[in-house]
Amino acid sequence: FKAEIDAADTEKGTYAHFMLKEIDEQPFVMRKIIQEYQDEQDNIKIDADVRAAMLAADRIYIIAAGTSYNAGLVGKQIIENLADTPVEVHIASEFSYNMPLLSKKPLFIFISQSGETADSRAVLVKIKSLGHPSLTITNVPGSTLSREADYTLHLYAGPEIAVASTKAYTAQIAVLTLLAVDTANAKGLTLDFDPLQELAIVASVMESLTDQKEQYADIAKAYFTGTRNAFFIGRGMDYFVVQEASLKLKEISYIQAEGFAGGELKHGTIALIEDGTPVIAISTQENVNYSIRGNVQEVAARGANTCVVSIKGLEQDSDTLVLPHVHPLLTPLVSVVPMQLLAYYAALHRDCDVDKPRNLAKSVTVE
Ligand code: G6P
Repeated sequence: FKAEIDAADTEKGTYAHFMLKEIDEQPFVMRKIIQEYQDEQDNIKIDADVRAAMLAADRIYIIAAGTSYNAGLVGKQIIENLADTPVEVHIASEFSYNMPLLSKKPLFIFISQSGETADSRAVLVKIKSLGHPSLTITNVPGSTLSREADYTLHLYAGPEIAVASTKAYTAQIAVLTLLAVDTANAKGLTLDFDPLQELAIVASVMESLTDQKEQYADIAKAYFTGTRNAFFIGRGMDYFVVQEASLKLKEISYIQAEGFAGGELKHGTIALIEDGTPVIAISTQENVNYSIRGNVQEVAARGANTCVVSIKGLEQDSDTLVLPHVHPLLTPLVSVVPMQLLAYYAALHRDCDVDKPRNLAKSVTVE
């Protein structure tokens, strides 16, 4: 595999779109991250200052926008689960108005592909003035957020050109996982989880998914041709992925899409389900598999065109896609791949400008 990402990565090569190329690069990015964050003894390599900041924090505040915010939601679960530190995730543009009461020793983590998002920078300026420590996780070394924060962790995803973010999302989750495990190790917690090995499995699974693109083109055609809206549902970890899935679809195909918590459907949204409304469910977690399937039946009974994406071990015969097994904490890294591809093909079928969707910018430097 290609271990280094170089100048050629700013060109499309044989790909019709950067987005497709960047989706395909995800297995390489996972391997690159494993390589960059591993020392000679196969331990996780994280800067001692970053480790000290993580250890000192009694609570972590993740600040981000768009896709990076969605990655932060997954990161919260992973950090709380592995490192046992409480985490809050905040939309950067809302933070100043809805600023929570801060803990005594907060650490702010800014997740930003570009490192230039003005909304996030405004929060960084504010919390620095309050004297709080900050860590930026970014794909662009030398970016504003990287320069201005106390510490930086790099994503090593290579240039991301398509406006809709794909490989940065999975890279962010992978780096947050390594950070969480490093913190857990430093705290002396015993983990039944080898992140470098688990991420290597993720890389292989991603490869098997991106190798079979035709099926996503067909599914996208079946569900998204001619539809005005679409719903994505999930519970637990899958709820965070459906939020990213719906963002991808609306960004590039202009279909009005929303990601909902399966259990919340009945409290309002189910009123929108009509004959043929596409509802895509993700089920990768044992503890919610039964309940989310109940939600699928509820919407199917009201005429929805349902599609279930599950994982080996939890699958049922009627499922549209069954993903190979990965560690339950890392399922977002693989379940998001079919979602990215479905959005891509939906946009293609609808003749949309995949790499440069209307009204959007790759990096938003105004508040
Ligand atoms: C823009 C882009 C999104 C991105 C968001 C945050 O709105 O269109 O794709 O997720 O900014 O960007 P960042 O560079 O901070 O991750």
